[in-house]
Amino acid sequence: MQKIHVGIIGVSGYTGLELIKILLAHPVFTLAYCAGSESYEELSSLHKSLEGICKEPVHVANMREARECCELLFLALPHKKAMECAKEALALGLKVVDLSADYRLRAPTYEQHYTEHIDKENLEHAVYGLVEWQRALARKARLVANPGCYPTASLLGILPFAPYIDPQSSVYIDAKSGTSGAGKNLSNNTHFATINENLFAYSPLSHRHEPEIAEKLELFGKCHAPVRFIPHLVPLTRGMLVSAFVRLLAPIDAESILRDCYLGEKFIRIRNEPVRIKDVAGTHFCDIFVQQKGKDLWINTAIDNLLRGASSQAVANANLMCGLDDTLGLPMVAYVP
Ligand SMILES: NC(=O)c1ccc[n+]([C@@H]2O[C@H](COP(=O)([O-])OP(=O)(O)OC[C@H]3O[C@@H](n4cnc5c(N)ncnc54)[C@H](OP(=O)(O)O)[C@@H]3O)[C@@H](O)[C@H]2O)c1
Repeated sequence: MQKIHVGIIGVSGYTGLELIKILLAHPVFTLAYCAGSESYEELSSLHKSLEGICKEPVHVANMREARECCELLFLALPHKKAMECAKEALALGLKVVDLSADYRLRAPTYEQHYTEHIDKENLEHAVYGLVEWQRALARKARLVANPGCYPTASLLGILPFAPYIDPQSSVYIDAKSGTSGAGKNLSNNTHFATINENLFAYSPLSHRHEPEIAEKLELFGKCHAPVRFIPHLVPLTRGMLVSAFVRLLAPIDAESILRDCYLGEKFIRIRNEPVRIKDVAGTHFCDIFVQQKGKDLWINTAIDNLLRGASSQAVANANLMCGLDDTLGLPMVAYVP
């Protein structure tokens, strides 16, 4: 099969590194352009772990140079910086998968929770790349907004039940993430002495992923129930566990509904016991377990925040945008024990 050349902006970050690893083993994509920011100290080389494996030079990001050697760009950048690059890259004819939040939300919601949006024209046409729920549109897209990690883990579990949720009730989501979810820059919360042997909530009921989950529950599931989201940080490098509680309109056979919804989906596993982070860490899998008592349903999901919550989902979207099977080249084997 003919190779497709792709590039990454933000190679020095956590999701950028995960993208490189997936692309090095991908049967069709070839990594042809790597860029970091001007401040990247080791601009001439990639992460030390890639020594002897990948010799791609690291450039200061330049969209025109990227256009000369690539068809598609992954943006593994902070929000705001991502839309500056995406706007230019799209104008030059590149396809873009943006891992940041810049193209995920409707403009007023984005501006309420992030910053002024400088590329509303492209925002209107961006496809929200929750792969199992959006394949048809992603196939035709030039710009895919890769979903956030908490929204991915939450929505994949809750969406199959959206039609059965009592709109008078709230959707409660208790979520836990490893510290790589915050990126590579050190902060008080992710400092070793703070997070080691510790566990705490942050941004309760005010995290930016709450409106993302609510907006997409409405978009894909026509579910208008309010979302109440409490994220926690746990002393793990990677992985994410969600406990969602929903009140149903009437008792249902939740497991059958879940199995029917994801029939034939290679990277969704319906479990018969509560899910575990280590079963999915290092993979694109989303594991789901459900338990019900009358009209109360508990939905339990696990993903790798850096992969299904970011880089492997981005590659799945790129696969679709380039006319490939979305599951091509995605990591399957977990980092156990
Ligand atoms: N981590 C996750 O689990 C996760 C999950 C889903 C989505 N995301 C999103 O994915 C994006 C990347 O996340 P990450 O965790 O990989 O972050 P990260 O580890 O902090 O890496 C960010 C990258 O962006 C570069 N960068 C920062 N400021 C820049 C600027 N002004 N101009 C050019 N490059 C700049 C950094 O370069 P330097 O090395 O020079 O600073 C670095 O390569 C973020 O928008 C994040 O919200 C992350």
